[in-house]
Amino acid sequence: MNSWLNAQDAMGKQFCHTGFPNGKHSVKAYVLLYYSVFSQARFTNFATQTERMKNIRITSGFSRLDKNQKINLVSSNVANPELFGNTLLGTLHRDPLAQKLYDEFSENTIGNYYFPYGVAPNFLINGKMYMVPMVIEESSVVAAASGAAKFWAERGGFHSEVISRHKIGQVHFTWNGGIALLKSIFPEIRRQMHFNTERITANMVKRGGGILAIELVDMTDKIPDYYQVKATFDTRDSMGANFINSCLEEFADTLRDFAAVNTELNRYSLQIIMSILSNYTPDCLVRTWVEGEIKEGAHSYDDHYTDTEFVSRFRTGVRIAQVDTYRATTHNKGIYNGIDAVVLATGNDFRAIEACGHAYASRNGQYSSLSEVEISDHTFRFILEVPMSLGTVGGLTHLHPLAKLSLQLLGDPDATELMMIASAAGLANNYSAVKSLVTKGIQKGHMKMHLLNILNVYLATDDEKKLAIDYFKHEKVSHSSVNSFLESIRI
Ligand code: MEV
Repeated sequence: MNSWLNAQDAMGKQFCHTGFPNGKHSVKAYVLLYYSVFSQARFTNFATQTERMKNIRITSGFSRLDKNQKINLVSSNVANPELFGNTLLGTLHRDPLAQKLYDEFSENTIGNYYFPYGVAPNFLINGKMYMVPMVIEESSVVAAASGAAKFWAERGGFHSEVISRHKIGQVHFTWNGGIALLKSIFPEIRRQMHFNTERITANMVKRGGGILAIELVDMTDKIPDYYQVKATFDTRDSMGANFINSCLEEFADTLRDFAAVNTELNRYSLQIIMSILSNYTPDCLVRTWVEGEIKEGAHSYDDHYTDTEFVSRFRTGVRIAQVDTYRATTHNKGIYNGIDAVVLATGNDFRAIEACGHAYASRNGQYSSLSEVEISDHTFRFILEVPMSLGTVGGLTHLHPLAKLSLQLLGDPDATELMMIASAAGLANNYSAVKSLVTKGIQKGHMKMHLLNILNVYLATDDEKKLAIDYFKHEKVSHSSVNSFLESIRI
């Protein structure tokens, strides 16, 4: 075992010394490197690494080190510092200016973490054809999206409408003077809040957005003395987090100052607890659907089931996700396979999008499917209604070179159009997943897509891969079957 790992390690070192960036080396070499680093960490050095980690001291001033110093320091905490450091260095962009840009997206950056950037063609949405960029590491997601997109493009495509685009922010505060007094003075405070935020909102107002409403919310039935200023915003084509948070902090200052000088209010205690936008945006909502005729006895949806049988099985599959939380979570995860991939590709905040969607999926008190099936007048309709606050200006959207490219590929959509595109990708992935699940099952197709990953694990050459792909057209894919196949052709 040890000698094998040492051999791997030596190969890894050799590889590193060749200076591997810039795509000159084969996947095999990368896989070799991956295994030489991580099999060591996982299998041989587990105990020593654990010991090593126990001895790591509190680090001060880490952020002030330059990148090489950071890499050296981090690497000194693992078994093979040279290999670890070289692996990180190998991920850096060849253009120092581009690397600087990536570094500055975050802090303490010591490398780049690559995700595949793919494209799903044939997305016909409201009559317009898109090639949809998708950033995702899971094999079969892009294939599933592409398959569904093509299938539905031949049947009228995706239909989509944005129902509303409002966003919410809150100032959370406590006040022990009772609701009546606060309520009576609030219109004046609200006027002051509008006035004090004018310099923040001027540009947004020019673009047709701004503050839509500022309300006082009594939350004292939940927590004594707890109130909110709840504001509604239209942030046009920006996601608007910074805009909203700046307005909210100004509201908080206004409220605090007003309460301090007003002789009726300053007899009581007012404390601002926090001011922050809400990522729950149920009023930033898009509805996307596909629909098709159900023909008795026909096989247009599936090779094995007639239309009537297929739509019935499909509807039951979705119904199950509406009533069972275990299934709903996986079902919605399949939707976010598509949505997240587009959100990431366009430089948007996938954590916000996911958090919001899952909260929305629970809006009736039970976590449930975000999609639904309607069958009426011989028509099958598959619908996704999902909130998402996306931006096409600001944030990383035009700063990350690939996000910019994605938006260009999509024809520089506004935020409304991007909501439709991302939700169509979600619906496409959901359609493919549920269709596979209620017909032939998911694993056969999934493992076929995963075959290349398994072949890479076993360090297959390009010729071996060709033979394997051919062989596994008719065989079940698993780690052991791929290993046995490779052994049989390597003899
Ligand atoms: C896998 O990433 C996603 C699925 O599990 C979704 C689903 O079960 O509906 C296939």
